[in-house]
Amino acid sequence: MKTTISVIKADVGSVAGHGLAHPALLDKCEEFLAKAREEELLEDYYITNCGDDTELIMTHRQGEENEEIHELAFNAFMAATEVARELKLYGAGQDLLSDTFSGNIKGMGPGCAEMEFKERPSDPVVVFCMDKTEPGAFNMPLFKMFADPFNTAGLVIDPSLHNGYKFEIFDVMEHRKVTMSCPEEMYDALALLGSTGRYVIKRIIRKDDNEIAAAVSTERLNLMAGKYVGKDDPVAIVRAQSGFPAAGEVVEPFAFPHLVGGWMRGSHNGPLMPVGQKDAYPVRFDGPPRVIALGFQIADCKLIGPADMFDDPAYDPARKQAAEIADYMRRHGPFEPHRLPADEMEYTSLPGVLEKLESRFESME
Ligand code: F6R
Ligand code: MG
Ligand code: MG
Repeated sequence: MKTTISVIKADVGSVAGHGLAHPALLDKCEEFLAKAREEELLEDYYITNCGDDTELIMTHRQGEENEEIHELAFNAFMAATEVARELKLYGAGQDLLSDTFSGNIKGMGPGCAEMEFKERPSDPVVVFCMDKTEPGAFNMPLFKMFADPFNTAGLVIDPSLHNGYKFEIFDVMEHRKVTMSCPEEMYDALALLGSTGRYVIKRIIRKDDNEIAAAVSTERLNLMAGKYVGKDDPVAIVRAQSGFPAAGEVVEPFAFPHLVGGWMRGSHNGPLMPVGQKDAYPVRFDGPPRVIALGFQIADCKLIGPADMFDDPAYDPARKQAAEIADYMRRHGPFEPHRLPADEMEYTSLPGVLEKLESRFESME
């Protein structure tokens, strides 16, 4: 019998401004998921939030892209939206692009990462949730986990990792995908993955036996909606140990607070700060972007945990460095590379400014 983990998330309202998902929203989602567990649709669940995003972490036997599971998440978010409206929370229902469910939650606003596997005798899994950034923010850390021997010692010294992994990479602009094999195609893969706004890792698979290793939510809400409706703050599921990177190798890339697109108005580069659950609340200039890591053991489809993995003093230097980089980046104000290049900004007044100035531009030829 196989186990499926579905992590489905949406921003349906927060306090104050685009800050923190209100506990009342999580409580409302809890009602729906508790009932679904009673009715045996779900085996288990854990509800959390990273900043203004509410995350539903669910285990079940229904497989990926299951209509009932997706509808459950959609209905929970719809009900939470009602609560958000009553409390006049900010951005109530902002990630729900439709008020009627149509078979699959993908394309309806919420982000979704799912994987199905046969449980090992002991199966550690890490769920990452990010706020104020985009799915491409996972490219560098996932690449390091599964392809960089300076991060993951096991790639060199553990025979069960030594053959490497395949990366399924989505081109979110052209809606196409390519699978690339590492280490052989590492340089070609990096040529794509460095363009974090366009090429994003969707899935990682162990080459030895095609076992699923990682899955990422790759929805691009702003592209789907055709206009700015919020950042697609992503989530990812990563399996650890015995043939996968060790739990410590899985969280190691985040000791470097790399620059990601997002932050204020989804239009600025800033450092990704790894934080414990209690600090998953981006405040300064709506940031800097945050990531939390929740470690679980999967036991007969039940979630044992979580361990709040970044609530570790060993990540204090990364947090301090992120705060310093945030300060440094902020001093650029409206200038690149703090502000994103025009074509990557979530919204811009540039076309209006250019239109206004059109008659005043003189040719220099
Ligand atoms: C970024 C984000 C916030 C908002 C900003 C402006 O993803 O959610 O930084 O973009 O607070 O929000 P509005 O336009 O709603 O006033
Ligand atoms: Mg919001
Ligand atoms: Mg958010």
